[in-house]
Amino acid sequence: MELIDGKKVAEEIKKEIARQTAEIIDSEKPAPHLAAILVGNDPASESYVASKEKACRAVGFTSSVYRLPENVTEQQLLETVDFLNNDDEVHGFLVQLPLPPHIDPNRVIERINPAKDVDGFHPVNVGRLALGLPSLVPATPAGIMLLLEKYGIETEGKHCVVLGRSNIVGAPVSVLMSRKANPGNCTVTICHSKTENIAEITRQADILIAAIGQPEFVTGDMVKNGVVVIDVGINRVEDSSEKGYRMTGDVDFKTVSPKASYITPVPGGVGPMTIVSLLLNILKAYRGEVK
Ligand code: GUN
Repeated sequence: MELIDGKKVAEEIKKEIARQTAEIIDSEKPAPHLAAILVGNDPASESYVASKEKACRAVGFTSSVYRLPENVTEQQLLETVDFLNNDDEVHGFLVQLPLPPHIDPNRVIERINPAKDVDGFHPVNVGRLALGLPSLVPATPAGIMLLLEKYGIETEGKHCVVLGRSNIVGAPVSVLMSRKANPGNCTVTICHSKTENIAEITRQADILIAAIGQPEFVTGDMVKNGVVVIDVGINRVEDSSEKGYRMTGDVDFKTVSPKASYITPVPGGVGPMTIVSLLLNILKAYRGEVK
């Protein structure tokens, strides 16, 4: 079994991004600039946005956060989106999700200029991805593809089983894995909460991507020998440690890893690649590589 070290791969890519950013700044051009819109005070969202800002600063990007109160109206949020769409000094931006229940996230996402949509959530980017055209790809699926590529994992003709059909991970990673490309060219099965006999399907997987947000859902008896396991889960489970909790994936590492040929740990697998893929999207948007 080989551990897929996302932290190490992410550090290497961040160094390269920092090198390219230094070149940009040396040539007296403005640094790539990410803005994040944060609505309310959800602790998880606060922490995600703080990590994104920190990662931007570490590679030399500019970052700014637009904080709006929990009770902001949808109209006011849309006006902030318009402001950032029109701000030439901001090359890419995102609206941290989830939004309060009185705001329709789809209406907000549709308002973002697709060329600045570094989350890759706008229907234009989703559509371009589905058509195999250049696009801003959501960060977690893009990070997974980078890991498969860096580790030289053979995907062509393999059966890839994806657990989860979210717009952020399951749906886009299914498209990428089935695309005529390398990595890609897989036969893809998507499983979700209504799938019957899920273990029968996961046992057929050559590559298993777990993105359902259920701690240790995939157990050793659900996989075959030699499977490649990509664990997207980041779940907090209570335990008797000093902190009172530990982080775990959607995969039961103890029983699955002995059967796997490759597996991502949690933490240190997919997580660090997500941030790095966001940075790569900011560079793409900066360079106008996606129209
Ligand atoms: N909330 C959870 N994941 C994400 C993400 O990738 N982007 C944004 N904007 N919000 C999120």
